[in-house]
Amino acid sequence: MKGLRNCYLNLRHPQSSTMERKWIFPLAIGSIVSLFLLFLITLTTSPTSPHLLFLSLYHSAASIVFVESKLHPLPISSSHSPPRFGYLISGSAGDGMMLQRTLLALYHPQNQYVVHLDLESSPDERLDLHNFVKDHAIFNRFGNVRMITKANLVTYRGPTMVANTLHAAAILLKEGGDWDWFINLSASDYPLVTQDDLLHTFSYLPRDLNFIDHTSNIGWKEFHRAKPIIVDPGLYMTKKSDVFWVTQRRSVPTAFKLFTGSAWMALSRPFVDYCIWGWDGLPRTVLMYYANFLSSPEGYFHTVVCNAEEFQNTTVNSDLHFISWDNPPKQHPHYLTITDMSRMIESNAPFARKFQQDDPVLDKIDSELLFRGPGMLVPGGWCIGNRDNGTDPCSVSGNITSLRPTSGAKRLEVLIGSLLSGENFRPRQCK
Ligand SMILES: *[C@@H]1O[C@H](CO)[C@@H](O)[C@H](O)[C@H]1NC(C)=O
Ligand SMILES: *[C@@H]1O[C@H](CO)[C@@H](O)[C@H](O)[C@H]1NC(C)=O
Ligand SMILES: *[C@@H]1O[C@H](CO)[C@@H](O)[C@H](O)[C@H]1NC(C)=O
Ligand SMILES: *[C@@H]1O[C@H](CO)[C@@H](O)[C@H](O)[C@H]1NC(C)=O
Repeated sequence: MKGLRNCYLNLRHPQSSTMERKWIFPLAIGSIVSLFLLFLITLTTSPTSPHLLFLSLYHSAASIVFVESKLHPLPISSSHSPPRFGYLISGSAGDGMMLQRTLLALYHPQNQYVVHLDLESSPDERLDLHNFVKDHAIFNRFGNVRMITKANLVTYRGPTMVANTLHAAAILLKEGGDWDWFINLSASDYPLVTQDDLLHTFSYLPRDLNFIDHTSNIGWKEFHRAKPIIVDPGLYMTKKSDVFWVTQRRSVPTAFKLFTGSAWMALSRPFVDYCIWGWDGLPRTVLMYYANFLSSPEGYFHTVVCNAEEFQNTTVNSDLHFISWDNPPKQHPHYLTITDMSRMIESNAPFARKFQQDDPVLDKIDSELLFRGPGMLVPGGWCIGNRDNGTDPCSVSGNITSLRPTSGAKRLEVLIGSLLSGENFRPRQCK
């Protein structure tokens, strides 16, 4: 421990010789991992362990590793306070009620939320959601839930999906204040841990990590995705129709390398800034390339993050989701039910998909993992009302940075610990 501390003290005053830079990253990662393990041990032995030391060490690791990067417009949040998440929750026709439930299950006053029902949903359904957001006493109190009322036309597998995600990210940058990670979910996703669990665990992580499942081994996708050219009429028509294929095919890019992976991710604030502001040409060029690419949500951010030198080393290869695929995976994952409950818990993942509206397993998750009453918010350290009378304890709010992690935080720490362990987390992961 003393040795580690000394290393960090030395790192605080880096001499800028290239020799020394070489070992800084592996050392920092090694230290992060050891610290994480230590932190796990202290967490399991004494709930009131002195976290401050870990916090400051984590922080020095984060700021030193990326000291080279000159392009960040905003410094990485330097406080040791819990992070903030910016969520997009989106859905289509018929998803309104499910979206409301997912929003309640994900709500925390510390976070920012954008909800969106696409143009295929009826005006009534969108109005219902709008009223729900507008009339909710607690959303109003904190003013951190907003709806995209001018709905976008979103085509499944088309570039309009990525356009919608970028739209929401831009709204969060403009109006959402300080947040640290952007998380893109759909109405058929659901959390398996409380927001207190997530905020608590993420407060120990360097805030520039990007959780994005990715690979450059594109395999069959080279022929079926990279070479075909598609057009998404959703980009320029008022009515929705499916993507269509152009007869000509194109070659695999040589100006950048293609990466692919899951469409679910948690992106860091610096990386979202980089994608939206576009002071570097890469995010815009790649976006225009992906305009004619089938299933662009499974490639756009992956290709940008892995081709941008200043972000390559920030990737963690996970989408933080439990998803039940066929083996080998087909187009759609299975709907999760009660029988998947133990596998979901054992996965240690903070989110799962996909669920059918009001499936009984959601009630089980509410009562056993989120401690949430029907129609209520997920109780956390900020909820100080009483619940005896069947009232929502969150109707009275206390200190919103005071967190009360549950057993979900322990599961999440196991997952993060393994994701950041030596074999899984290397500098230059993008290969
Ligand atoms: C974002 O969320 C939607 C869910 O509505 C999903 O279908 C999409 O693929 C996600 N990912 C990206 C990168 O847009
Ligand atoms: C990323 O990691 C590689 C390999 O350790 C290193 O050479 C490179 O300088 C790092 N890039 C940044 C921006 O830190
Ligand atoms: C309990 O419920 C009753 C009836 O709804 C209400 O009048 C009362 O104020 C509630 N008490 C508390 C402590 O919330
Ligand atoms: C809120 O809670 C945090 C963490 O428990 C604490 O550090 C802070 O001082 C509290 N703020 C107030 C105003 O009580």
